[in-house]
Amino acid sequence: MKQRASVIIQGIACLALGAAIQRVYDTWSTAARQTAKVAPAVKAAQTADPVWTVAKVDRSRINYSGQPLWAWAVTELPESGEPQAVQGAPGAPANNANAGPSEEELNRKRTVSGSKLQFSLKEIRTVTNPNAGGQIVDWFPDDHGPIPDVVRYGPKAMGKNGRPCATCHLADGAGRPENASPAGLPEGYILRQLQDFKNDLRHSADPRKGNSNTMVMLAKGMSDDEMKESARYFASVAWRPHVKVVETRLVPKTKIQGELFIPQSNKLTEPIGNRIVETPTNTEENNTLRSAHGTWTAYVPVGSIKKGKDLVVRGGMKIVNGQIVQGKTTACATCHGTDYMGIAPDVPPLAGRSPSYLAREIFDIQQGIRNGSNSNIALMRMVVEKLTPEDIINITAYLASLPLSPSGKPAPATGEPITSQPNQAKPAGGPVASLQTR
Ligand code: HEC
Ligand code: HEC
Repeated sequence: MKQRASVIIQGIACLALGAAIQRVYDTWSTAARQTAKVAPAVKAAQTADPVWTVAKVDRSRINYSGQPLWAWAVTELPESGEPQAVQGAPGAPANNANAGPSEEELNRKRTVSGSKLQFSLKEIRTVTNPNAGGQIVDWFPDDHGPIPDVVRYGPKAMGKNGRPCATCHLADGAGRPENASPAGLPEGYILRQLQDFKNDLRHSADPRKGNSNTMVMLAKGMSDDEMKESARYFASVAWRPHVKVVETRLVPKTKIQGELFIPQSNKLTEPIGNRIVETPTNTEENNTLRSAHGTWTAYVPVGSIKKGKDLVVRGGMKIVNGQIVQGKTTACATCHGTDYMGIAPDVPPLAGRSPSYLAREIFDIQQGIRNGSNSNIALMRMVVEKLTPEDIINITAYLASLPLSPSGKPAPATGEPITSQPNQAKPAGGPVASLQTR
């Protein structure tokens, strides 16, 4: 039975992929034309200190009406012609989201659960380049191998204009909902993404997302060796569970701070509405002190996990009177692995990852503002083409709720390109049907 279910799913995925190939070429060539005009920004980044200049990105074709605002932690759509923000430009004050404490409080040493180390708030907030006086915070040095210089100090060629990868993604790449989690991604995928950022193939739909614009500028400042070293390092760290998904009608009252929803109380008092609200489970340790062991609680609407499972596992396909009725999408396991842990060399994992991050990427890919050099990204775009804002909530709620494979690592390469052999991807998670109990 399990076998049959997975064969049906893969068969359907195959049909969808086959029919898609012709349109891939159309989409791809449009994407290439669209991005060719964008000027490189590295010169500007290096010369316009202290104000960073971002390459102009054409966002005129984005249909913002379906933007999952919750995933960007904003409440309003961007205005037309909205300027592009940058985060942490040189000379900008250190993160002062909780500004106000006395000098004594700022210098008081603190610690987080599970760590023997101590850092002051001042040290934690100094998120500028260590060469310019700041440092990275590494609460758990035993969790990972030696940190490459680029992760600790930022791209060398950018000097004091650079920023260490660890300041946003944390020392082990665990990341946070407002950025991304490079830990445990396939090495080839990380390298490709860095190249894609550098070549202006990947942007965020929302120009106000300063950290994504900064990410692009950092990729432009990296050498090939720095890309390889950071990819090898982040890929070597096992992905640990970070998200706790809770179905609920009510959520705590939150305040938006630094592109995050920060709970103002423990009481669930506010209707969730059509959104996911992802918050630090322990605001002090996880947000203020930036512990890499903290978890994020994602409040999701009641019933969303089951609806999401239907789309993720079966693509929304139904059997009516013995006939297969195609759903609005394709079973994600076809490419992302039956345990959704990704497949080497370059398909990313989805299981247990931040729903806010996943939702931003789905929207960015849907709107064509996230392109890439992987030819399968055009297929990925078709997969998400028809998804509504509600589907995106359901899909990301389900994916975030999934357990991780014991290794926390993607499946090894199958040796077959996805386009020609979509059914050959056999990672270690057992058949698709085994996930249907969730
Ligand atoms: C200013 C904060 C910031 C810094 C510093 C930063 N990043 Fe990022 N990074 C981001 C954000 C935000 C994204 C998500 C971009 C998007 O898609 O909107 C991201 C995405 C990524 C991704 C893609 C992850 C995925 O799942 O596709 C990789 C890989 C990555 N960063 C690596 C690095 C490396 C290597 C460095 C150091 C040179 C670095 N980052 C420094 C903010 C940052
Ligand atoms: C045809 C193969 C294919 C299918 C089917 C597919 N994907 Fe993907 N997906 C990809 C590839 C390849 C990438 C990486 C693209 C790149 O290199 O930027 C990707 C990237 C993603 C990302 C970005 C991850 C990150 O770390 O930034 C998300 C989110 C995603 N897919 C979600 C889904 C969901 C949800 C489904 C099912 C509804 C799905 N995908 C089905 C091939 C596929």
